Amino acid sequence: MADTDVQALVDVDGRCPYGYYATARDRGAVAYEAKTGYWVAATYSSVSNVLTDEVTFPRLSPEEIVSDPRYVRTVSTPSFLTGEARLAHHRWWLEIFNPRALRQYRGGLVTEVVQAMLDRFADRGSADLVHEYAEPLADRMIAGVLGLPWRDDDWMAELRRNFNLVERYKASIYLKPEESRPFAEDALAGTYRIDDLLRPFMEQRKQQPDDSVMSRAIHDDAMAGWDDEQLYGLVRTFFTGGSGTTSVQLVNAIHLMLTTEGMTEAVARGDDKLTARFVEEALRLVPTNHFRTRVVAADTGSTAPTCARARPSRP
Ligand code: HEM
Repeated sequence: MADTDVQALVDVDGRCPYGYYATARDRGAVAYEAKTGYWVAATYSSVSNVLTDEVTFPRLSPEEIVSDPRYVRTVSTPSFLTGEARLAHHRWWLEIFNPRALRQYRGGLVTEVVQAMLDRFADRGSADLVHEYAEPLADRMIAGVLGLPWRDDDWMAELRRNFNLVERYKASIYLKPEESRPFAEDALAGTYRIDDLLRPFMEQRKQQPDDSVMSRAIHDDAMAGWDDEQLYGLVRTFFTGGSGTTSVQLVNAIHLMLTTEGMTEAVARGDDKLTARFVEEALRLVPTNHFRTRVVAADTGSTAPTCARARPSRP
């Protein structure tokens, strides 16, 4: 099947998606895809409407995503909070990563981690961009921000092994839930093993707060009254939300830079404004996230062939 022949979102996996996107836009702002029972919003304005109206288009809850309630902790994050609680939590993230904090990271931890990664293969003169640079870098950056031992390769490898079990389960859970099921038990075990790895650092900071983001996650007012299940889930979210996204985006951006004439030289000149513009364009042109899922919780007056479904049930 040529990439341009892909007719349903479920078939995009592993293919260049842009032919499908053009087809989806041509067929209308919102269209029903019988193959998976999803409505696909494909234009800027329809996507914007869906993402900004959380009452009509809420997220699936963790219970609705997994096939068995036992697996809720494999997908659950505080981002599934609703209403004012979610907005308050969102504000906490914005405060954690405010522009001043980001500038400090850039001059401190980011430089340190990037340098440490480059030092590993600088003498060799070449490296695998994905496996030797972007992936270990993203994990270590998150670990560094949290105050975890990012220089300890064995600890980091064990952490990644277990997050990969979780990611393997989640990879097909929205579009092909039946394919994800065989991986659920390993993913669940992975979440507990990750908590075991985090525990010494979490427990120490419960007793003795320091200036790490992990301490803030435990002690800030925004998390007052949260139990361990929620707090460990929040710390896991730093990796599930921030690691794969960052490493893929980094690789995509570097590829774009290397394949756009004159761009490598331009970025290398160190002009901050130009680099910032390049990053914005990379986020737009070669993004990490290509689709998000939402539920239609109310009649939207669509005239499409079948009625908008209420929350779907998972077999
Ligand atoms: C290039 C890197 C990144 C990309 C492309 C990315 C992409 C996204 C997208 C598309 C969403 C919206 C999900 C939805 O509403 O369905 C999101 C939300 C979120 N991301 Fe990222 N992300 C990146 C980096 C990070 C990092 C580094 C962290 C934390 C360490 C992070 C934490 C979060 C959290 C907590 C949310 C949920 C926010 C909320 O709904 O309140 N992300 N991200």
